[in-house]
Amino acid sequence: MSPTFDELHRRSLDDPEGFWGEAAARLEWSRPWTTVLERGGSPAGARWFAGGRLNTCHNALDVHVARGRGDQAALIYDSPVTGTIETFTFRELRDAVARFAGALAARGIGRGDRVVVYMPMVPEAAIAMLACARLGAVHSVVFGGFAPAELAVRIDDARPKAIVSASCGIEGRKVIPYKPLLDEALERARHEPDCCIILQREAVAASLVAGRDLDWREVAAAAAPHDCVEVEATDPLYILYTSGTTGQPKGVVRDHGGHAVALAWTMRNIYGVEPGDVYWAASDVGWVVGHSYIVYGPLLNGNTTILYEGKPVGTPDAGAFWRVIEQHGVKVMFTAPTALRAIKREDPDGALLAPYDLSRFATLFLAGERCDTDTLDWAGQRLGVPVIDHWWQTETGWAICANCLGIERLPVKPGSAGPAAPGWDVRAVDAANREVARGETGALVARLPLPPGAFTTLWGAEERFVDTYLREFPGYYKTADAGHVDEDGYVFIMARTDDIINVAAHRLSTGEMEEVLATHPDVAECAVLGVRDELKGQVPIGLVVLKSGVERDEGEIVSEVIARVREQIGPIACFRAAAVVDRLPKTRSGKILRGTIQRIADGEKVAVPATIDDPAILDEMAVALGVIGYPRPL
Ligand code: COA
Ligand code: AMP
Repeated sequence: MSPTFDELHRRSLDDPEGFWGEAAARLEWSRPWTTVLERGGSPAGARWFAGGRLNTCHNALDVHVARGRGDQAALIYDSPVTGTIETFTFRELRDAVARFAGALAARGIGRGDRVVVYMPMVPEAAIAMLACARLGAVHSVVFGGFAPAELAVRIDDARPKAIVSASCGIEGRKVIPYKPLLDEALERARHEPDCCIILQREAVAASLVAGRDLDWREVAAAAAPHDCVEVEATDPLYILYTSGTTGQPKGVVRDHGGHAVALAWTMRNIYGVEPGDVYWAASDVGWVVGHSYIVYGPLLNGNTTILYEGKPVGTPDAGAFWRVIEQHGVKVMFTAPTALRAIKREDPDGALLAPYDLSRFATLFLAGERCDTDTLDWAGQRLGVPVIDHWWQTETGWAICANCLGIERLPVKPGSAGPAAPGWDVRAVDAANREVARGETGALVARLPLPPGAFTTLWGAEERFVDTYLREFPGYYKTADAGHVDEDGYVFIMARTDDIINVAAHRLSTGEMEEVLATHPDVAECAVLGVRDELKGQVPIGLVVLKSGVERDEGEIVSEVIARVREQIGPIACFRAAAVVDRLPKTRSGKILRGTIQRIADGEKVAVPATIDDPAILDEMAVALGVIGYPRPL
């Protein structure tokens, strides 16, 4: 009889060596590990599979060709915005990756060198990532919606030898030239890469800088295929930057061995897919979901993955997801609740579902933000399949909590992301690191060591890694989410404990936006907060206090601060509303009461905080927020 979920979870914590050692045996290693788990081998309390050697790209592609899956579809590129559907078999994808790896190697890129990938959702993005993995080079993918200033910060931090980009991205009906953004980023950055390799797309031809920029197709055509390079299991595979509480993003680092083992394991055990099944994560390669579940997880497990260059609505309509599921025989899909809300808003009755045969579709997984029960129920009723919320973070690389369908299907509790997944020991604790009673809200922490696949450090910032994640709750990883664990062990994620907000399931820092606002010459003080939004979950709004003596038109200043956030962080910040106020509510010790402003904007009843220095200011806030449309009717 198969073990129950509880038995497996228990074993993963009591005997992590046995548990993950068995999972690792499914991969091909060029040298076996000496220890599955080297405790205390790093500040995070673990080094997984130390002494072992393998190559992630070999396990994602070559292994499947060798084992007879060469003709199976590995990646289907479905792009309604260009009218393209292109299938790469495992053999074709391996050959394309080997060739591009050869092109990178010909430019001197090898083990440990960094390559920044700034690409739209085209197969070449995945090919570039896998080519880096093939060489043991470290990729750092930067999401296309970030502005040049953000790209520049990442270039300076990762110091890449090469940057791989494209002439443009296509966002719904908009064509966004990427190359000018890259050129501007390189002007701003202190670090200079040796070369930039640019994919010319039909919609826009980018001008190339002689001596620095190369044409993707030319270099790939001239390259000799490169074989996989053996690396240490503990070598870095990639850096992925995520929002921190300052303008300096955090470079989450993931290793080769633990990552490959964990992701391959999750495909069968969390998502319940077998090699050969079609799996679709409707995300972007620039986010962690794209790394784990568009590229690495499905390929490591021999699944067909879908790379979708389109939106849930408008490309061409709110039936787009259902068309993709039917056309490619998707068994399991992963998306964010915001995408379902967008569909629900345009097609509340699910009329656009009717023409499609979804008989092969088994499960919908959701993550990225808290899922409201309305959306969960709507999807469940319309689709007639289990809709499973699961909780994870860029740092963790895979789900911390999930209803693991491949192990045992547990009941769904609306509002909960499920119980802690195997490998994760999650607790809600108080400020003194004591576990709170079941059902009581606390800071959510995970006991060290973190399982394989979780981040191992922050790139070039070990101290920041320890300070941010490990110092406050000794022996535990601080998730910076708050919530509670119920009597059955189900975890309910309620809110972030820092300044991170989730805008359309994109992670952003209000602190970083405040830093941008504060650079405006007329702004003396400001606050940015995430307020409730029917579609995007949350959106940022800003309040600014002007320097004394500033007599300029307030509307103009507001437009300027909005433009600054777009220029410096990017359109993805969705920072579209701000107001000028005379003062901000503060405690007597001078701390801005951001939570109070947010509750007023959300239309909640606000008790006057005991520490406020002047209660009358709350009425002023309500008036200012009313001017910019808050609270919004939901
Ligand atoms: N490159 C350049 N610009 C981008 C971009 C990219 N890759 N992605 C988004 N943008 C731009 C958009 O064009 C938009 O610009 P605008 O202000 O000029 O209109 C802005 O960033 C905001 O984009 P977005 O938040 O995506 O809003 P939207 O209204 O275009 O779409 C949704 C709303 C809900 C349909 C969309 O956000 C969505 O599909 N979200 C799901 C996210 C997801 O899957 N996340 C992964 C976690 S699982
Ligand atoms: P990211 O690093 O972009 O994946 O964002 C991680 C954050 O998104 C988490 O810390 C949570 O705040 C939020 N999040 C992700 N998944 C969920 C979920 N299923 N329920 C509630 N919040 C979630």
